[in-house]
Amino acid sequence: MNKRIPHGGKLVNRINLNCVVDYTLNYVELDKLELSDLELIANGAYSPIEGFMGKADYESVVHKMRLVSGLPWSLPITLAVHQTKAAELTIGETINLIHNDKVYGVMKVTEKFSPDKRIEAEKVFKTTELAHPGVKKLFERPAVYLAGPITLIKRPEKGQFEDFYLDPIQTREMFQQLGWKTVVGFQTRNPVHRAHEYIQKSALETVDGLFLNPLVGETKADDIPGEIRMKSYQALLENYYPKNRVFLSVFPAAMRYAGPREAIFHALVRKNFGCSHFIVGRDHAGVGNYYGTYDAQKIFSNFSEEELGIKPLFFEHSFYCKKCENMASEKTCPHDRQYHVILSGTKVRGMLKNGEQPPKEFSRPEVVEILIEGMREVYKLEGVGNGEK
Ligand code: ADX
Repeated sequence: MNKRIPHGGKLVNRINLNCVVDYTLNYVELDKLELSDLELIANGAYSPIEGFMGKADYESVVHKMRLVSGLPWSLPITLAVHQTKAAELTIGETINLIHNDKVYGVMKVTEKFSPDKRIEAEKVFKTTELAHPGVKKLFERPAVYLAGPITLIKRPEKGQFEDFYLDPIQTREMFQQLGWKTVVGFQTRNPVHRAHEYIQKSALETVDGLFLNPLVGETKADDIPGEIRMKSYQALLENYYPKNRVFLSVFPAAMRYAGPREAIFHALVRKNFGCSHFIVGRDHAGVGNYYGTYDAQKIFSNFSEEELGIKPLFFEHSFYCKKCENMASEKTCPHDRQYHVILSGTKVRGMLKNGEQPPKEFSRPEVVEILIEGMREVYKLEGVGNGEK
């Protein structure tokens, strides 16, 4: 396995920031998810994909988790428009891709098609229940998918994370400069806790470097905002990680909550960022009880390591054990569950909301402080009283 080869052989680059905007073109409004996909297609994070998917690739991905070329790819990357908008556009025309009145890209329309969203939901999310945030989003999107190759002509605003936005070409260069031959990627959308730290460091024992790559694109409303999480990752790195072994940058994609399918997608994207390995723990990219604890690991058996080109590193559910006086997992700890410090995401969010510190066996105090302070600001802005459930 050559660890440096992007998915499909070469890193896609569809960025042309010198392109002059042609305001006479027809346009399509992108939502936040589509805007982040536009940038990630253009900078090669989604290599070999060069645009929003056409029907053949879309159906092949939905049904077989492969592009028409046969390459593994697990999530549809699509641009949805209303029927009336689709009717205005002709095949072959170039359109502007806009968001909040700004033109971020152009696309040559090669196809328009109406997806069967029930099938997409069943295959991708394993459910058609609207209580699932990914399914809800899917059904809220307009009915027609537009396909075609894109070019990014303006970078989406980076906000507070300016210094932490790197394109795959830049992270690849960085890993080379650092002399890392093997790099393990870590995806997260949650406040960092000690089980994260434990599996990251366990992985780091066997490779040269850790690429901490938190997702900061669109997430569901009750997930902790990216800005707050980023501060907490920085505090953790400052206090508990060797500086020459960890590299932090953000992954601006939206969260789909597609569990197993999203784990494959997350791995392939990190391959494009230059990783050789990727961590998959318990319930990766899961939500509610839609997926089994280890489904996101089992799904990797559908592909050979060669065709994925990135090695998944699987971890059991980890926790602090009061008897072991250490972090452990079911695999390594013989003690009864009563000794294990395990808190659900909901429980932790509740504690932070009330200004309560989760125990230090669960989360580092430096991290907790930042989370409590950050969430206090969020609730103040939302007008939610401290302590209210
Ligand atoms: S995710 O939705 O982006 O997967 P999260 O931040 O919860 O969110 O998890 C990041 C990674 O850590 C995932 O690979 C997940 O499986 C893993 N993980 C989270 N908590 C644990 C735990 N207690 N034990 C083992 N793996 C975990």
